[in-house]
Amino acid sequence: MADPMEAMKKEFENRIIPPSWKDRVWEIEDYRKFHEDTIKDKESIEKWWEKWANEIFWFRKWDRALDDSNPPFYRWFVGGETNLAYLCTDWQIEQGRKNKVAIIWEGEPVKENGEPVEVRKLTYYDLYRESNRIAAMLKDKLGVKKDEILTFYLPMIPELPLFMLGVQRIGAKHSIVFSGFSAQALAVRIMDAGARYVVTADGVYRRGKVLNLKAIVDDAVKICEQEGHKVEKVIVVKRAGNEIPWNDSRDVWFEDLMADIGKNVKVECEKMGSEDFSFILYTSGTTGRPKGAQHSVGGYAVHLYTTMKLIFDIKDDDIFWCTADIGWITGHSYIVYGPLMCGATTMMYEGAPDFPDVSRWAAMIERYGVTIFYTAPTAIRMLMRFPEENYTKYDMSTLRIIHSVGEPINPEAWRWYYRVFGREDVVCSSTWWMTETGGMLTDHFPGLGKIIPLKPGTNGYPIPGVRMEVLDDEGNSVKPGERGYLVISTPWPGMLMTLFKDPNRFIDVYFGKYKSKGWYYYTGDFAMFDEDGYVWVLGRADDILKVAGHRIGTAEIESAMVSHPDVAEAACVGKSDPVKGEIPIIYVVLREGVEPSPDMVNELKKHLRATLGPVVASDAVITFVNTLPKTRSGKIMRRLLRAVAEGKELGDVTTLESEVAVEEAKKAYEMVK
Ligand code: PRX
Repeated sequence: MADPMEAMKKEFENRIIPPSWKDRVWEIEDYRKFHEDTIKDKESIEKWWEKWANEIFWFRKWDRALDDSNPPFYRWFVGGETNLAYLCTDWQIEQGRKNKVAIIWEGEPVKENGEPVEVRKLTYYDLYRESNRIAAMLKDKLGVKKDEILTFYLPMIPELPLFMLGVQRIGAKHSIVFSGFSAQALAVRIMDAGARYVVTADGVYRRGKVLNLKAIVDDAVKICEQEGHKVEKVIVVKRAGNEIPWNDSRDVWFEDLMADIGKNVKVECEKMGSEDFSFILYTSGTTGRPKGAQHSVGGYAVHLYTTMKLIFDIKDDDIFWCTADIGWITGHSYIVYGPLMCGATTMMYEGAPDFPDVSRWAAMIERYGVTIFYTAPTAIRMLMRFPEENYTKYDMSTLRIIHSVGEPINPEAWRWYYRVFGREDVVCSSTWWMTETGGMLTDHFPGLGKIIPLKPGTNGYPIPGVRMEVLDDEGNSVKPGERGYLVISTPWPGMLMTLFKDPNRFIDVYFGKYKSKGWYYYTGDFAMFDEDGYVWVLGRADDILKVAGHRIGTAEIESAMVSHPDVAEAACVGKSDPVKGEIPIIYVVLREGVEPSPDMVNELKKHLRATLGPVVASDAVITFVNTLPKTRSGKIMRRLLRAVAEGKELGDVTTLESEVAVEEAKKAYEMVK
């Protein structure tokens, strides 16, 4: 693969203007000035965000936009009161959208000709009624309290957003665990959140098979019990009708719970303080323990509303489709809360982009007249491997904005996406952000009425109200075209409030690196600026991998490996991959007396799948060595293992304890390459 930095630098001067935007383009100096005016000082930052905050509904307006008296615990819209469920339902109905379609859902069993078997369309009134009913059920039947956290292990079915809204309505919180995670990973997250209730489905369709989610939940609940945490109830939504294990004293069907809840029952919406928290979402860090990113109500809402307008230019007649899973932040923010609080029609689907064939997305874009599309580079690179005719035979001319997220988009993939999906006349950009940032932080801003020119592979400009910098290890700004660490040097409303139950870790992880310089949010990404001030994110600078856009720490993979009784040591590094972005390469030292074999590889893969889930296991490459390259003080030199996997020069090896280990790693890697 070409060096991503060099490939991107070649595009620095390549300013592309979609024809239908030719009269609506910023001079970059003008945009720079406009942007600078929004971040000059605290007052200008507040002014910028208050303008947007004034457009959404509040039970009570804030006294102060930004309280920065206790950094890095910034508080936004202090004194304000609102509610995410109210914004997404009641407020929409008040604005006349009662009968507008809020969610279009397409299920997976898809006929041979690509037509769906099952489509559900829910209006804003449907969302309102059903989420009220769920709220009533949670409150009255299960005694769910304000501030209680419920864990959802739900697939991509409309009940997931309905439960999210039901929970928000009563001021409770959700912790959604991506339904591709294993029982072990789910159990850790249930226990950390202290959840009494887990909501799941019997099964879900994926690529023609039914995955038994309930069985995974049962295993997770068992692990919780062994660790002394009791899950009181597992609520099961019927989706696939598959056989599931059942425990009468604990399990309950969602439909049975709801049977006697009135159709028009109303539950008063909790007036949430802007600085209450709305949900936690676990994400990977550089240690084995996942971090619970804790998000607010008011700041999060304002951030989403603003970015929906600014970056997606959302209008009333748009059909908005973000292809992510709601189990990740992209889905929380841009399938559910963002689009719904803007009164948009948001799409969700069950299945996969390549089943029954790679045309599924293009066919859906045509079928529903999708106007705004949001996906991941890894999916684009997968689709690119097939003839264009698979996509161009569908009419995708309704698309006007197509964005990507999750990892850097290489210029080649950007060009393909812009041409094949975007017919070279759309705003096409790679929006950079993270679980922790709540919402998008870079783009080209069609919602301002004019855009800054597109460039293949760039992340565009930081959004107004937010200052980003690229620094070296000492905290000095690096020159345009040079690589450094991306930091955010001003607070923004969507930012995580803290890490759940772990404020010290929050300070250390995000604000520790440049402590002596001030409060700089450290993203963990390598990036560079170009002369125009555009940001180009190059990838992670730490031990976090992005495998097919999914974030996973090498430490999590290593601790999963060493939890197998036959494994003595393991070291995991990422290797770049033309489709997945990165794949994990795991070097394993087996215990005395255990022999490496193909069976052992299968066994360890099975173990990885059981511990972390299929996302990691299916792409992982496992190879065996007798010893790992270490420094004389005993630290594993992952840098060398990565160089071996990438076929690159080893660089400085003076601290290496023994070169034999590197030679061995090379041989081991040759065998699995
Ligand atoms: O490395 C960056 C990459 O994804 C990381 C955040 O991952 P996660 O919390 O899973 O959130 C992903 C979706 C918001 C970042 O630190 N990343 C995300 N978007 C981009 C990106 N890298 C380059 N370009 C992007 N557009």
